[in-house]
Amino acid sequence: MEAPGPLSAKYEGSFAYYTVKDRMPQILTKVIDTVHRNKHKFLEAHGEEGIEAEKKALSFFSKLRNEMQTNKPILPLSDQLPDTQIWNQYLDYQRTLLSDGDEPSWFRSPWLYVECYLYRRIQEGLFLSPPISDFDVFREVKNESFFQSQQAMFALCTHLQELKGRMNSLSKDKVRDEIYKLVQVSLWGNKCDLSISGGQNNSQKTSVLASLEDFKAFILVDDMTSVWNILSKNRDGNMESRTRVDFVLDNAGFELVTDLVLADAMLSLNLATEVHFHGKVMPWYVSDTTKHDFDWTLKQCLAVNHKWMSKCGETWKENLKKGRWVYHEHLFWTLPHEYCTMAEVAPDLYTELQKSDLVLFKGDLNYRKLAGDRRWDFTVPFSQALRSFHPAPLCSIRTLKADIQVGLPEGVGERLTASETDWLTTGKYGVIQFSPVV
Ligand code: F6P
Ligand code: MG
Repeated sequence: MEAPGPLSAKYEGSFAYYTVKDRMPQILTKVIDTVHRNKHKFLEAHGEEGIEAEKKALSFFSKLRNEMQTNKPILPLSDQLPDTQIWNQYLDYQRTLLSDGDEPSWFRSPWLYVECYLYRRIQEGLFLSPPISDFDVFREVKNESFFQSQQAMFALCTHLQELKGRMNSLSKDKVRDEIYKLVQVSLWGNKCDLSISGGQNNSQKTSVLASLEDFKAFILVDDMTSVWNILSKNRDGNMESRTRVDFVLDNAGFELVTDLVLADAMLSLNLATEVHFHGKVMPWYVSDTTKHDFDWTLKQCLAVNHKWMSKCGETWKENLKKGRWVYHEHLFWTLPHEYCTMAEVAPDLYTELQKSDLVLFKGDLNYRKLAGDRRWDFTVPFSQALRSFHPAPLCSIRTLKADIQVGLPEGVGERLTASETDWLTTGKYGVIQFSPVV
């Protein structure tokens, strides 16, 4: 991927500025604790070198926490990773947003940038501490959250297998109802991210399926009809027609399993012919899915002592082998850039997404990047907030955890603000929000 030139003026606007959220230092404290607790593992794997690396990483992270808490200037990255130059150019771009002489700093730069920067700096700290550079500081919590959600996953996998058992007898309307259910499960699965909880366990303990009707009132935008119109075309079309659906993944653990179940149902119910998944190239926002998490999840599903979940694992492995499922990685997903810059910054990824019939963007961070984390009025149309990011028809499936929401009917945002001050940030509400290519 080429580093882009300076970003053009069309990307400027009113960013959401925040002071550093409490959970950012909290996340760094957990990182420090995790590295320290794994000291013996490093010793076992690398001898004294491992201990030296642990010390080096700890001192890097303590310094980083101090920089953050005392509002020090944002520093350029000093590692030599493929995205280092792009990050440093983005820092130059941030400088252009400030008046002369002011330096971007932890409290004075847009939250989206600073928060992404934190996760990238964590990676820098590890990269500069070989031989533990590949250590995923969030793996323990991701795995723990997976195991704690197992009962809910069993229920979901059982539901899927039962659905597949009777799929030939389903009417078109029934297929639509079933896929709608699984889209909602995938939506509420997005409550389970570990960054909103500062890395504390936030797993799904009970089956969501039984509660879908009760949760419907909390879906503020429901564009399922538009999603269905695309998916049903494949079912109605001739045998040669191909429908590609892309998932821009969010969290590992329960949410990932809900996505895999939805993707499986799409193929089985003849609504899609291929599904592509996009994951992160480095540990990100605590629980986001990396290639390792994806593979690990499939292995766990396959090996588990539960008939229907292991059946799912088998099918999913086969889907990947046969190319019906494809996993992609791209550096762009772990850059701070909003998605309207993708065509310029990562044209290859933009071209890849253009091959899709429907791109599903999972989760809150994707939503913030889609809409640029700007202070939009609640009624601004979603397609407008995307600012020319239209690689394919797309849909955001997201529970609200950040102070941004567009595309609401007149008065809804204001009414919610008057009755529940934190409605934008608790994950209680959700959207299934669609944009055609405009
Ligand atoms: O730290 C806050 C945040 O950026 C919020 O946007 C959200 O709570 C979380 O991180 C990420 O959520 P998601 O996993 O849904 O993208
Ligand atoms: Mg996430």
